[in-house]
Amino acid sequence: MRMDNLEQNYEDFISTVSHELRTPLTSIRGFSQTMLSSWDKLDDESKKKFIKIIEEQSNRLIHMVENMLSITKLQSVNNNFVFNELNIKVPVEQTIAIVKNQYPDRNFKFTCKENLPNVFVDKDKFQQIMTNLIENGAKYSPENSTVTIEAYLDNNNVCIEVANKGIGIDKSDYDKIFTKFSRIDNPLTRKVQGSGLGLYITKNLIEKMEGTISVNSEFLNDNSNLSKITFKVLLPVKSIEEQARIKCSQSH
Ligand SMILES: Nc1ncnc2c1ncn2[C@@H]1O[C@H](COP(=O)(O)OP(=O)(O)O)[C@@H](O)[C@H]1O
Ligand SMILES: [Mg+2]
Repeated sequence: MRMDNLEQNYEDFISTVSHELRTPLTSIRGFSQTMLSSWDKLDDESKKKFIKIIEEQSNRLIHMVENMLSITKLQSVNNNFVFNELNIKVPVEQTIAIVKNQYPDRNFKFTCKENLPNVFVDKDKFQQIMTNLIENGAKYSPENSTVTIEAYLDNNNVCIEVANKGIGIDKSDYDKIFTKFSRIDNPLTRKVQGSGLGLYITKNLIEKMEGTISVNSEFLNDNSNLSKITFKVLLPVKSIEEQARIKCSQSH
């Protein structure tokens, strides 16, 4: 990466970070100041409400900082990817089990084609990708609904689709959701918290492994007023020769 490019990235990063940190910090400061100056005038109910807001906003900050640390790692040249052959079936099942714990009412349906070839990826990064996508599937879908995960071979790519019901994404927002800090404003996203970094990180990781990710949202004509949202990940199957070349370029 050239220097001017690096500096531009850094400036973008600082400006978005300051902007994003300001909102929760301002509200933490505001509610603490109000409580300190008007303690005697506030009833217990209001105090509790204010402290709840402070707690929520602190959690939001912690989540954001964690994601930002991920971003600085993404941007650093020395990104530690350890490439190995991986059969995706078990790691996907493990990810589903973890997300199921967080969203016990959601159903998860995983179908994996027999004899799927291995992909050549970093296992931890692959898990991070799947966690982000499956978590989103649960987070942005109605209670008790089903998140479907399908894995199959498509030309020379292992294809993984993660789909859920939810409020549809406009075609004009397809690119936007993969950029930094972008969230779509609708009643469902307003209800759940997020930093808008998940898909940005996910796309970056996939591209570092020479894969692609795309989204498709289709309105369901079933009176639910909802859409089916599908995220499709393609990871290339690498020949032994290609694997060797990647290994070589990693070691210096
Ligand atoms: N599975 C999904 N179903 C519907 N909308 C989604 C889904 N995944 C992502 N989105 C939309 O894309 C936005 C960006 O997602 P993401 O980068 O993961 O950030 P976050 O989840 O923190 O908001 C979300 O705010 C939401 O509007
Ligand atoms: Mg997310």
